[in-house]
Amino acid sequence: MEGFSRRKMLIVSGGVLGGLGMAGPAEASGSGLGAGESGHGAGVSEADGSDPRWVWDPDADPVAAGILDRGQVPEVNRLLRTWTRNDQPLPAGLPADLRAFVEQARNLPTWAEQSTLDRAAGFVENKGTYLILLYGLGGGMLSCAIPNEARAVYYSKGGADLKDRAAKTGKLGYDIQEPNAFRPDGHLLVTAVKTRLVHAAVRHLLPQSPYWKQGIPISQNDMLVTWHTLPTFVMRKLTEWRVRITPAESAAFLHVWRVTAHMLGIQDHFIPATWEAVNAQSKQVLDPALARTREGVDLADQILTISAKGITPSGSTRPLLNALARYLVGDHVADLAAIPREPVWGPLVRTGFPAWVALRENLTLLPLVPKIAWTIDEAVRKYILFYLSGGKQIDIEIPDTNRPS
Ligand code: HEM
Repeated sequence: MEGFSRRKMLIVSGGVLGGLGMAGPAEASGSGLGAGESGHGAGVSEADGSDPRWVWDPDADPVAAGILDRGQVPEVNRLLRTWTRNDQPLPAGLPADLRAFVEQARNLPTWAEQSTLDRAAGFVENKGTYLILLYGLGGGMLSCAIPNEARAVYYSKGGADLKDRAAKTGKLGYDIQEPNAFRPDGHLLVTAVKTRLVHAAVRHLLPQSPYWKQGIPISQNDMLVTWHTLPTFVMRKLTEWRVRITPAESAAFLHVWRVTAHMLGIQDHFIPATWEAVNAQSKQVLDPALARTREGVDLADQILTISAKGITPSGSTRPLLNALARYLVGDHVADLAAIPREPVWGPLVRTGFPAWVALRENLTLLPLVPKIAWTIDEAVRKYILFYLSGGKQIDIEIPDTNRPS
């Protein structure tokens, strides 16, 4: 993947010397639907009369169940491994129902605006460091404090090999960062459709696990909850950090994530259309979903250990990473995920992080930059290099079993 190293280097090297700046007020004005869009304002319960807690993915779920029941998963995964680009025809030999589903699911929604998606590319690239840090470390820790998600990840096949699972999830993070993500030569549409199939397979498999007591997993509500750990959380943090963002960038970033939500199988009427509606829905669905679980605590610990080893093979950066993770998600979520408090690194990161942002935003004179800001910069760069290194050759594959006990 030729673009990989260029893009990776842009993200990793951009900020400190190269002024990545941007983002501003996260709120786009207006609370109504975007033109031609079907998403309602804030509330999920009123959307179309259906409750997202009791809706899953009626198009994908029977297809995934069918290939699982017919024992076709290994063959389907083998064939789909060659299908990587948005414009690429599907390989021959796929089951007819799967082919029909994918041919439909791979299309952008009618309300997607390519010009707006293109407009987001510059923002996504410029803010890449913040975005990857927030998706990966921030969103990753938040997910551990969401019981439905933590348990689903823990008891599904990928729960047994979190390093592999993190790399696969990183593939989506990598693909959405590509400037051509939604264009014919991009990869995001393929990755999103494959992820949709993975989720559909998990809905069929997890209820068969002796450890799973929660009914059918990954409802539309669960999808919304997790979605808010991504763009909603990111924009909240960027705003808090006073990162410069123009209203056009903010709107384009939301559009990227609304289209991605659609591609992942979230129904249009549940996808909020404005930042005001996004933030209201997040309060409604994400805030009450947060709680501590044994599984989430274990996952958070594993993710932090894996990431620390990604930064330094000895894992010696774990205390710094704990402090960073706690700073990103705040004490409430950090306590739910049992991220250790760090008496030395905690206060250092609390003062050093704003200095690091100021450094990246070119708001400070280099001689005045405290040492801790450079330490954070180095750790974040290494974290991102590690995180993105999965994007190259990783295949997202449909699971055919739960976590082996
Ligand atoms: C798999 C992203 C929501 C549970 C995946 C994968 C991606 C992904 C990229 C494929 C990587 C892999 O195979 O490991 C997302 C995004 C979401 C979302 C962007 C929302 C916007 C959810 C929710 C749950 C969930 C709400 C559970 C409540 C899982 C599980 C797997 C998975 C269990 C499969 C792991 C395995 O193979 O065992 N997700 N996900 N995801 N996701 Fe999600």
